[in-house]
Amino acid sequence: DWTPQHTLESLVADIRARVGDEKVMLAVSGGVDSSTLALLLAQAIGDRLTAVFVDHGLLRLGERLEVEQALSPLGQALRVVDASGQFLAALQGVTDPEQKRKIVGREFIRVFEREARQLSSQGYRWLAQGTLYPDVIESAGSGEGSANIKSHHNVGGLPEDLQFELLEPFRYLFKDEVRELALLLGLPEPIRMRHPFPGPGLSIRILGEVTPHKLDILRRADDIFISSLRDWNLYDQVSQAAAILTPIQSVGVIGDERSYGYVLGLRAVSTVDFMTADWARLPLDFLDEVARKITRQVPEIGRVVYDITSKPPATIEWE
Ligand code: XMP
Repeated sequence: DWTPQHTLESLVADIRARVGDEKVMLAVSGGVDSSTLALLLAQAIGDRLTAVFVDHGLLRLGERLEVEQALSPLGQALRVVDASGQFLAALQGVTDPEQKRKIVGREFIRVFEREARQLSSQGYRWLAQGTLYPDVIESAGSGEGSANIKSHHNVGGLPEDLQFELLEPFRYLFKDEVRELALLLGLPEPIRMRHPFPGPGLSIRILGEVTPHKLDILRRADDIFISSLRDWNLYDQVSQAAAILTPIQSVGVIGDERSYGYVLGLRAVSTVDFMTADWARLPLDFLDEVARKITRQVPEIGRVVYDITSKPPATIEWE
């Protein structure tokens, strides 16, 4: 029988055979594919790996630390680049969603090119990517999510003079098989079973302009929603969940005073391929608890609403 252990051994052998004693760079996004690949490469080639994790300042609460801890077996091979200032500056004043996506993509390439150039000058010849089989065949089953993530972290944007050999060890694997490898490699469960998260991160979950203040509000509210899903054992039952900060200020009452707070949207969907999706029938008691917690712990938010629109006609993201 062909077990995940066999897959692991054969991938390690393939990587060693192809790479020889050369050096490999990898971009880590914090998702399951690139994180698993990082652990696999570390096992196969040890410190001839450099994994670059770009913190674009648009991550969830605690996400950077979570990735750092999950990839601690890499030791010095993990390079975390804090580029949040650069991304936030580039996003300043921008409200159009597609513009935000372009800017995040462009800045990502800029940061990545800087890193790639430096590593290239240190003799790195290989660039590893966590491309999966569905990404390769671009079938309907690949989902927009993975295709988007792919283009976001793709090397397509690297200039001509910066040439790397592509290493794509997962190009014949499906997501489930990568998750099995992740288990063998000891990737912590929160990352192994993580929902997809868009490359542009929280920038497209703040409707309108992205500011540090709004990022802070959304992070705290989103964290309450996601942790509560985990506490209620609902996280694995939905395909994706998100909190969305709207620019709407609605009236509320605190004590005897009228107060104005932001309207926060909660979104949770069930889907197989992310092309269509059904809104998740989360228990009302759960939603009640989350709304109370959020308005209590994040006073900037005055009202919480739950999105009961399926896709189509609505998309999963609000932008
Ligand atoms: P929509 O909103 O189009 O989302 O129904 C479908 C899936 O794609 C993800 N998504 C993105 N992923 N860059 C990404 O890497 C993007 O710009 C982007 N937009 C949407 C979304 O989170 C969902 O999983």
